[in-house]
Amino acid sequence: MSKTKALILAAGLGTRMKTEEPKVLHKVAGKALIERVIGSLKKAGVDDITAVVGYKSDAVKKAVKEKIGYVIQDKLLGTGDAVKRAEGVLRGFSGTLVVACGDAPLITGETFLDLVKTHVKTGAACTVLTCDMDDPSSYGRIVRDKRDSVIKIVEEKDASPKEKSIKEVNTGTYCFSNKELWKNINKIEENPKKKEFYLTDIVELMVESGKKVIAVKCASAEAVGINSRRDIASANRIAVDKTVLRLMDGGVTIIDPTTVWIEEDVRIGQDTVIYPNTVIEGGVVIGKDCKIGPFARIRPGSDISDGAEIGNFVEICRTKVGERTKVKHHTYLGDAVVGKDVNVGAGVITANYDGVNKNKTIIKDAAFIGVGVTLIAPVEIGKGARVGAGSVVTKNKNVPDGATVVGVPARLFSSAKKA
Ligand code: UD1
Ligand code: CA
Repeated sequence: MSKTKALILAAGLGTRMKTEEPKVLHKVAGKALIERVIGSLKKAGVDDITAVVGYKSDAVKKAVKEKIGYVIQDKLLGTGDAVKRAEGVLRGFSGTLVVACGDAPLITGETFLDLVKTHVKTGAACTVLTCDMDDPSSYGRIVRDKRDSVIKIVEEKDASPKEKSIKEVNTGTYCFSNKELWKNINKIEENPKKKEFYLTDIVELMVESGKKVIAVKCASAEAVGINSRRDIASANRIAVDKTVLRLMDGGVTIIDPTTVWIEEDVRIGQDTVIYPNTVIEGGVVIGKDCKIGPFARIRPGSDISDGAEIGNFVEICRTKVGERTKVKHHTYLGDAVVGKDVNVGAGVITANYDGVNKNKTIIKDAAFIGVGVTLIAPVEIGKGARVGAGSVVTKNKNVPDGATVVGVPARLFSSAKKA
């Protein structure tokens, strides 16, 4: 969508969050709010993105991995003023501009795409993304006339009792004909109560000058705006529930969906069973026929192959676990590559961090690691090798294929049996 650009409003303080951190860097299901908004815009094919930043702008710029442009809003004079700060970079552009809030993290790529498509098709000057909320308080209300046309947006603080009863709310996301936006933005007057310039006032200004303003509705679960820690918790629940449903529909058994934490981009194969109180973080891949949990935590950069079992109180981090390997109790595997048919006994620890570097542990196919073993990385355990219970295998003291080692530090007990 080359004729579409986006502007993300992300300068706010997050006063209601009571936080030192910029609000847009708070996370929902493992991902910063602003990164979620950028991700969804990119999914919708909008690659030319500018963010308006203000409060701790350097921290925001540093945290955002994607390449986007930035403009600064020094004084937080409201959403209308925030848009004005982008005049220098956007005024000459003659296409469609999506204006999104950095604190609305659950709007999907499909919804942005639908919004842009409807906007372009109808030739509206402004298309507002709205939704019906059971509890609309804290959102701007969409006021319609007798013919059901949108005529203005009124904020909670300025709403009459009748307007407060309106359930249709502004998600804070809009599509503008960019030319029309800049024709009207300077007409917005300061809100007398909040002493801010409200972008929402542009709707009434456009309607009064005979321009077409329409609304596109999305699901309320997408529209949740983050103003407080309570909102973060609700958004987490919505995001995790959605992932859980996707996985169950794909053939994964999730015994108790209410106690698992699974982040969106996790992939899990058919007939795998996830037991209660399990945490599976961003980007993790789990194969078919696995058993995971209860009380397991699988962290980013991990890949669990078909038929593997990860049990109680096991933490797996940046680690590959091979087919049918069992890691069933009280274990930590970090920066490890574990082959297939390996048995990792209870309480095995990879000591992967030496205070400076994270080092690798390699455990080859069919090895047997006894209960309570510590493997000090970097170290390699050979194919079919055995490490006796309680042993400490020290740095670089690689165990040859088929050998058995025991003790602290571990010493050779027997070499590979000759065939
Ligand atoms: C805003 C809308 C409201 C809508 C709601 C949806 C206005 C006046 N109100 O209210 O109709 O229902 O979002 O969530 O727009 N920001 C800046 N600079 C500022 C002020 C805000 O960049 O000076 C950014 C914030 O960082 C935030 C976004 O704009 O990402 C929205 O601001 P916020 O103060 O949260 O607006 P709401 O009161 O939620
Ligand atoms: Ca908000």
